[in-house]
Amino acid sequence: MAFNVLIKPSDHSFIMEADETILEAGLRHGFILPYSCRDGVCGTCKGLLLQGTVDYGKYEDSILSEADKAEGMALFCCAKPTSDLIIECREVNAAKDIPVKTLPCRVHKLERLDDVMVLYLKLPANERLQFLAGQYIDILMKGGKARSFSLANAPHDDEFLQLHVRNISGGEFTKHVFMQMKERDILRFKGPLGSFFLREDSSKPVVFVASGTGFAPIKSIIEHALYVGVKRSMHFYWGAHKLSGLYMLDKAREWETHGIKFTPVLSEALPADEWQGRTGFVHEAVLEDYPDLFGYQVYACGAPVVVEAAHRDFTTLRGLPNEEFFSDAFTPAPKA
Ligand code: FES
Repeated sequence: MAFNVLIKPSDHSFIMEADETILEAGLRHGFILPYSCRDGVCGTCKGLLLQGTVDYGKYEDSILSEADKAEGMALFCCAKPTSDLIIECREVNAAKDIPVKTLPCRVHKLERLDDVMVLYLKLPANERLQFLAGQYIDILMKGGKARSFSLANAPHDDEFLQLHVRNISGGEFTKHVFMQMKERDILRFKGPLGSFFLREDSSKPVVFVASGTGFAPIKSIIEHALYVGVKRSMHFYWGAHKLSGLYMLDKAREWETHGIKFTPVLSEALPADEWQGRTGFVHEAVLEDYPDLFGYQVYACGAPVVVEAAHRDFTTLRGLPNEEFFSDAFTPAPKA
C-alpha cells in the first residue's frame, strides 16, 4: 500500500510504501531529512505530524515521550505511515546543515585491490553519519595530525563507511594502513566535511572526472544519483597510469548498464594490460569529446595536477562557467 507524504514548509512531496520509514522514503526520493542514529535513540529526526497517522515503531521512550506524541511529534527514522501524511521538518539543503561530529569507529574489513586498500569502517551501535554524497572525513591521528579521505559509500548505504586509501610511499597513515592495520582496530574521525557534492537543484548534464582514488567520492555521488533516480545525463571519465589503477572497473562498468556513460583512460598502460581503450591524460579525453561545455556541470576529483588542468582547460577552452566546476583535490600527506 502506498501513501503520499507532503513536507512542510518546502512543499516537497513523495509517494512511499507502508513498510518503509518516512526517513528511508524521503532519502530514497532525494529529500534529505536530518538524522543521526537511524535507530530511534538520538532524536535528531524528530519532526511534526501535521496531518495523518503513523505507526510510531520502536524507539527509546526517553527520546519520544507520550507528551511529544500528543503534540504531534514522531521520529521519522522509526515511523511508518498508516495514512497520507503532511509532516513538518527542516530539510538539509547544504553541507552547513549537517552537524560535524567526532566519532570512534572500528575497522570492520580491509580489502586490498592492488595499490589501493578499501577500508570498511563500522560506527558504534546507534550511530550513523549523515553526509552528502561526495563529502570527506578527517581521520584523526596521534599528535593532532589528520588525513582526509572521501567517503566512497553513498549516504543511503551507510552500514559501513568506505574509504579508498592509495599506497603512497612515505605516507605515514598509508604505511600504517598497509603494514599494520588489522580488522577490529579503532580509529577516530571528524566529519562530514567539504563542499564536493552533487548540486541537485541543477538539471544540467554532468561530466565526472576522476584520477586514481578520486574515484571514491564520484562513486558515492553516482551511487546516490542512481538510488534517488537523478534523470540528468552523466558521463564518467576515470583516469589512471595503468590498468590496475582502475581498481573498481567492474563497478563502473555496472553503472553503464544503468545509463551512466563511462570512459576509462590510461596514460601509461603496460603491455600486459593489453589496453584497447582511450589513452593519454583523463582531462584531455574530455576535451576531445566535448567541444563545448557551456551547458554542463563538471565534478573533478583526484590528483591536484589533474584537477587544476581540468579546471583551466574546461573553463578557458570549452566555455565551462567557473561556478559550474566543482572539485576536490587530494594532496598526498606530508612525509613522516
Ligand atoms: S535518527 Fe536518531 S532517533 Fe531517528
